[in-house]
Amino acid sequence: MKIAFIGHGYVGLVTAAVFADLGNSVWVVGRTKSKIDNLKKGIMPFFEPGLEEMVKRNTLSGRLKFTLNYQEAVSESKVIFICVGTPSKQNGEADLSAVFKSSEEIGRNLKNYALIVTKSTVPVGTNRQVAKVIKKIVAGKVPFDIASCPEFLREGSAISDTLNPDRIVIGFDSIKAKTILLDLHKPIDGERINTTIESAEMIKYASNALLANKISFANAMSFICDAVGADVEDVLNGVGLDKRLGRMFLYAGVGFGGSCFPKDVKALIAIAKSKKYDFDLLKAVNLINDDARKRFVEKVDRTLSGVKGKTLAVWGLAFKPNTDDMREAPSIDIIRLLQAKGAKIKAFDPVAVDNAAKVITDVTFTGSPAEAAAGAHAVLLLTEWNEFKQLDLREIKKVMKTPYLFDGRNIYDPAQVKSMGFVYKGVGRE
Ligand code: UDX
Repeated sequence: MKIAFIGHGYVGLVTAAVFADLGNSVWVVGRTKSKIDNLKKGIMPFFEPGLEEMVKRNTLSGRLKFTLNYQEAVSESKVIFICVGTPSKQNGEADLSAVFKSSEEIGRNLKNYALIVTKSTVPVGTNRQVAKVIKKIVAGKVPFDIASCPEFLREGSAISDTLNPDRIVIGFDSIKAKTILLDLHKPIDGERINTTIESAEMIKYASNALLANKISFANAMSFICDAVGADVEDVLNGVGLDKRLGRMFLYAGVGFGGSCFPKDVKALIAIAKSKKYDFDLLKAVNLINDDARKRFVEKVDRTLSGVKGKTLAVWGLAFKPNTDDMREAPSIDIIRLLQAKGAKIKAFDPVAVDNAAKVITDVTFTGSPAEAAAGAHAVLLLTEWNEFKQLDLREIKKVMKTPYLFDGRNIYDPAQVKSMGFVYKGVGRE
């Protein structure tokens, strides 16, 4: 099938590459010349495991093409996916300007019937507005349908998430739209949820908000476990084995970040407010998320009897492992709070240093965990990259000034680390 993707962020580029790999003929439309030129050369705009290889392979075969020109992509595509960003506005609402701008461009370049599908996370009613924008431009001359097909991929595992989704949500109001989308997704397994456009739009917000709830619940439990001397990992293991609850996304840490949860939780609060519902539960999710960062900093400060003038090694900067994405990364707030208290920061991240250097200042970036730890009063683990899990901590201890280890993701066994002579503080366990 001939398809086009507007936008080459995580959703647009990954989904385009996967659909090209499945044999479709795929256009990706962008608006920044340097990025499109790079993509044509196989240079990715971000790090995502397996993506570069998949993009290169499909570009070479001619199935995946990049352009700045809507006309060549839109005029020959049967399905056009809108995958542009919907960042938070100051008041928490989703900024839909990129969605509407691309809708206008689609409308202007539509020559034959096409199905226009929104993959961007958008508030209920947006797809209908997209239809209105396009309808006004095509003025009845070209038939089209709209549909909502929200994306649930996670950074770091985006390709396998796209190929093996738990579900494919299809929101439609015409049988033709439903048939085309079911046909396009045929090679991909996963439950199909066929529903209305409005419900499809809401499923995405509800899913992200509930996942964020689980994380904030785990973090709140870690605060209490710290206070009463319980081990939050044992507690959440005990909770998670209940099949009704599950252990996934119930890991305490320094809080959630990234391009989705913080933005989508705020947007759902704003959507609720616009309908006169005060979503207190979600407001608390955000407060706990901020608190997780602050409490971690306080714990470091308290344990070290003040961080002023001390050198702290930060391991992991990205908002999660296997990505170089620094958007809303807990490391940003944590480093700034520690710097405000007078700490000096040395940091290491396997891939996010370049992006981190754009958002945090006065940090010494190093080339390895040991280099960051050299001469430090404490190590603070903020992102659970695999390479930190099996490090020889005895060797690390030798190069440190004082042996304090603050495990912001609970990846180490406290007893084992303590037996090496470290003072160990996890999140909700010691
Ligand atoms: C999320 C959703 O999972 C995905 O379905 C949606 O399409 C986009 O948003 P992503 O932001 O890529 O994906 O990462 P995810 O793995 O969900 O993690 C988000 C944040 O939550 C990270 O900062 C992570 O460290 C944190 N997290 C996750 C926890 O603190 N504890 C957990 O148990 C799980």
